[in-house]
Amino acid sequence: MATQEQILSRRTFAIISHPDAGKTTMTENLLFFGGAIRDAGTVKARKTGKFATSDWMEIEKQRGISVTSSVMQFDYDKFRINILDTPGHQDFSEDTYRTLMAVDSAVMIVDVAKGIEAQTIKLFKVCRLRGIPIFTFINKLDRQGKEPLELMEELEEVLGIESYAMNWPIGMGKEFVGIYDRYNNRIEQFRTEENERILPLDENGELLGDHVMKQTSYYKQAIEDINLLNEAGNDLDLEKVENGKMTPVFFGSALTNFGVRTFLETYLEFAPTPQPRKTDADELIDPVSEEFSGFIFKIQANMNPAHRDRIAFVRIVSGKFERGMTVTLSRTGKTFKLSQSTQFLADDRETVEMAVAGDIIGLHDTGNYQIGDTIVGGKRLFNYEKLPQFTPELFVRVTAKNVMKSKHFYKGIMQLVQEGAIQYYKTLHTEDVILGAVGQLQFEVFEYRMKNEYNVEVRMESIGNKIARWIQNESNVLETMSNPRSMLVRDRYDRYVFLFENDFAMRWFQDKNVDIELYSLL
Ligand code: G4P
Repeated sequence: MATQEQILSRRTFAIISHPDAGKTTMTENLLFFGGAIRDAGTVKARKTGKFATSDWMEIEKQRGISVTSSVMQFDYDKFRINILDTPGHQDFSEDTYRTLMAVDSAVMIVDVAKGIEAQTIKLFKVCRLRGIPIFTFINKLDRQGKEPLELMEELEEVLGIESYAMNWPIGMGKEFVGIYDRYNNRIEQFRTEENERILPLDENGELLGDHVMKQTSYYKQAIEDINLLNEAGNDLDLEKVENGKMTPVFFGSALTNFGVRTFLETYLEFAPTPQPRKTDADELIDPVSEEFSGFIFKIQANMNPAHRDRIAFVRIVSGKFERGMTVTLSRTGKTFKLSQSTQFLADDRETVEMAVAGDIIGLHDTGNYQIGDTIVGGKRLFNYEKLPQFTPELFVRVTAKNVMKSKHFYKGIMQLVQEGAIQYYKTLHTEDVILGAVGQLQFEVFEYRMKNEYNVEVRMESIGNKIARWIQNESNVLETMSNPRSMLVRDRYDRYVFLFENDFAMRWFQDKNVDIELYSLL
């Protein structure tokens, strides 16, 4: 197959949801269809520990949350699909954001009974920032939930996105009989013989003939709703879908594997092919261009405790990767032969020989890579746009309990900072280590990993919530250093950062120092 054809066959997306909405169950079904796992249950088994491949997954197990995000690849029909799982906890939204930088679209799973939940809103906002297409799967229709029209309204009102129902449930919970598939113009029956599963519609959009379902109240309700949607609902606008302004909505039940295949097949028709990416010089790099290039959106250390290795995850943006090829790291100009590369399958990691734009590969890393790095196959060096950092809100002062361990202490901190697990700051004169995070759990994972991976017990002293602001014109800053309501630190790039006690302190400071321009990160 020519490279171009291979690239156009790629679909790379992330699944987002509030914990428990059914992300894992959905992922399992998708992998199952792709033949990547033998029985739906493997991913769950991994989540609950049977396949625990990393030390800090212990934390995930204990708390029943997904901290890390993983990558899975499978083939379906003529497509090669890369699914990126995202952490289900809001404390890791920065990690989620970086993952979203590596995909071309997102699938949002919503629990029919719960509707739009807090974490859905947070993750959705992160998707919004990226402007990528978002597809919605409303899950658990085998249970009683909110009215479908109410859910559509909630999508529009709470998330501020237009919605278009690709299909519509007929009944719900115990009375769930199927979905009215507006897109494929048919009804798909729930819990029925395979030869009865698909029922055709007549030219008025009603069931052909005198099927028993026609007499049921839930069928009549569904038809009424559909008529309402046809008359007063949004039209499917592909341009809006492409820009993330309209979400196509599907209904189904992941646990009973109903509506998932229809979702997948329709989704694959609409989901974008690998998209071009911008360099920091505003140049768009076309995925089908000759030269290989990609960027590192995630670094994960110690994925396999037996190897104590570090994997840099690369989103290939253009061209073709072949094992053994030589690439240049644009940031340093250093060249590497990529002989140890990995791709991620459902229940294993496998050496990858060839991959193309759209694919995600893992590179063995001995400490050369940083998050956001660009690697290129050709002579011309360039960098993809920086991966944004979030403005942290929580801060701790951290020390090693045993001062003799300071070498390991700094090594651990630097590696975890490079991974993007936590943000690093230091005080001006004493150079005390201050860590910043978006959510409290990041500190817990940090503490756990320092102990388990670097053998260092740390002491963390909270300095609480702060408003962090960077300084546009740094030369003015030194005179104002002695401001009592803020702390001045430097970040890992040596930039000055004010940590204000609160909003009031920040405004007070701004009034007194009108010539200092402050800014926040994302
Ligand atoms: P997550 O990754 O988004 O956190 O959700 P996950 O797939 O783990 O699903 C959360 C719970 O919801 C699981 O039940 C799962 O079986 C259930 N679930 C997922 N999809 C459906 C569905 O379509 N219908 C119904 N009725 N339930 C669904 P659990 O009891 O928490 O876990 P388990 O006992 O099944 O392991």
